[in-house]
Amino acid sequence: MPMNWARRGGYFQKKSSWHLQEALQNAVHMNAKSIIAIMAAVALGSCGKQSSTTVTNEANTMQVYGKLPDGREAKIFTLTNKNGVIAKVTEYGAILVSVEVPDKTGKVADVTHGYDTLEGWLTNTSYFGATVGRYGNRIKDGKFTLDGKTYALATNNSPGDIPCHLHGGLKGFDKVLWTGKQTGNSVEFSYLSKDGEEGYPGNLSVKVTYALNDSNELSWQAEATTDAATVLNIVHHSYWNLSGDPSTSINDHVLQLEADQYLPTNAGLIPTGELAPVAGTPMDFTKATVIGERVGADFEALKLGAGYDHCWVLRKGEGMRLAARAKDPKSGRVMEISTDKPAIQFYGGNFLDGKAIGKKGVAYAHRTAFCLETENYPDAPNNTSAPSAVLKPGEKYLHRMIFKFSAE
Ligand code: GLA
Repeated sequence: MPMNWARRGGYFQKKSSWHLQEALQNAVHMNAKSIIAIMAAVALGSCGKQSSTTVTNEANTMQVYGKLPDGREAKIFTLTNKNGVIAKVTEYGAILVSVEVPDKTGKVADVTHGYDTLEGWLTNTSYFGATVGRYGNRIKDGKFTLDGKTYALATNNSPGDIPCHLHGGLKGFDKVLWTGKQTGNSVEFSYLSKDGEEGYPGNLSVKVTYALNDSNELSWQAEATTDAATVLNIVHHSYWNLSGDPSTSINDHVLQLEADQYLPTNAGLIPTGELAPVAGTPMDFTKATVIGERVGADFEALKLGAGYDHCWVLRKGEGMRLAARAKDPKSGRVMEISTDKPAIQFYGGNFLDGKAIGKKGVAYAHRTAFCLETENYPDAPNNTSAPSAVLKPGEKYLHRMIFKFSAE
């Protein structure tokens, strides 16, 4: 690493660009003219040397985050808005690295699990913040049949000692390097998943876009096209703890899901094909309910999932609609999730066991974060009653998700 580079704020940055970054961070509330003036002054001060920081507009920046073991560089991008929300995304795994949002007193804190450095994300076995694909969640026995041909996938997971395919396999979309491009308040990542990658057919061209607006809405959007029929379920896998303190349990968060049914599973967490009503069960989140209130209930689904780890079927509707609302009563932070997909996986962080040492050295303990992953049904490729997960040449896959943050 050159002498004039150093680790700062969790990533490597050219020292000469530090004051530019600070100036830009302080300038979030300034008008564009002042910002351009600051940028010009810093550029002159650096004696014409090239800065490592590319500024696309106002306080949005791109920096080198680190290097993959094969030497390729991964960039990190920062999105900010006028309310002090800051979201960081990296080309590695098209991962959402952090989301800082204000609480009811205006105190800003990061509400996601993850790592400070790229090196940390390289050890990411829990899919913190990741874009997961080609198929998010599980495929029974790691096999599916499409147009008469059976495809064999890695069986990289075995809940209940029953092997299955999870989250795209051994090297899914969360572990590949995407190409990022920032335009204003959005970052678009692209990736070509080649025919046969992780056993899936078709050359799949994928785009994932993150965008932040001044209404505190962070959106994640996945798009894909293929040159041969394939199956697809690209999901976003952030771990949330709205308290901003990742050492605390999320069992005290209050959750509401816009779902009257869920998918019971077998011991291998593969849906049985039944759509069960939530009414009268601990799976009922139709009204805002404290997560920990019934998580230990004597209920088969909760025993099989070691807590909440199921797919809820969202109420039918057209286009983008509310899927979930989560609130941390202490800080007052609220997150609402809207989507255009038919279902949502609510995972209560049951597999977190304190082994992953994350941001600021925190060991992420059991149920210190939850995931709300909008999706098609797990194992849909083997279930004719599920919405189709097939993408054919000439069609376009689209999955949109909006996280809206507020405090009350
Ligand atoms: C999903 C699954 C969980 C678990 C996590 C990742 O949410 O439903 O069972 O595999 O991903 O650890």
